[in-house]
Amino acid sequence: MLHPDVKEILVSEEQIVARCKELGKEISDYYADSNPIVVGLLKGSVPFMAELVKNITCDMEMDFMDVSSYDGTNSTEVKIIKDLDCLVSGRKILIVEDIIDTGKTLKEVKELLLSRSATEIKIVTLLDKPEGRLLPMEPDWKAFTIPNAFVIGFGLDYNQKYRNLPYVGIIKESAI
Ligand code: IMP
Repeated sequence: MLHPDVKEILVSEEQIVARCKELGKEISDYYADSNPIVVGLLKGSVPFMAELVKNITCDMEMDFMDVSSYDGTNSTEVKIIKDLDCLVSGRKILIVEDIIDTGKTLKEVKELLLSRSATEIKIVTLLDKPEGRLLPMEPDWKAFTIPNAFVIGFGLDYNQKYRNLPYVGIIKESAI
């Protein structure tokens, strides 16, 4: 049943499940024998990451990081709220994100992990909102491209609510 604060469903649960099967195959083929660390950015990536990893058939490890990006004096800075448990030096990393909007968060996280000597960093995102981009940032894999609207569900929140909705929808004006 549609949540009363949702105006319209943009991506259904069935579409996400089907797309994760396709992405899981591509990602498994790409990594084959390289045992990547799949890093979920908390909290929004959790439902997508759970669906995606079920379809990854090569060896992989899982870890999580929670960051908040903010505009500092000269550039965007990233504050680490929860750091990774594992060492990334010499490892291939696949970052899992819920949505890429401005591109600022991923730019900072990528630079941080490269400074720790990760050998390669790739990005997979559930949603790409290219009209929001302020920095050049292209995901290596994306499930869906969406228009410039504020969306909720399947991990995405508004004031920490709605992450549990099993679909991605546009929030009603009246709920903001
Ligand atoms: P950016 O790419 O650094 O601007 O930030 C991406 C982050 O902004 C995501 O991980 C989300 O937490 C948040 N975000 C951007 N657009 C939306 C949206 O439409 N709904 C919910 N969160 C969003």
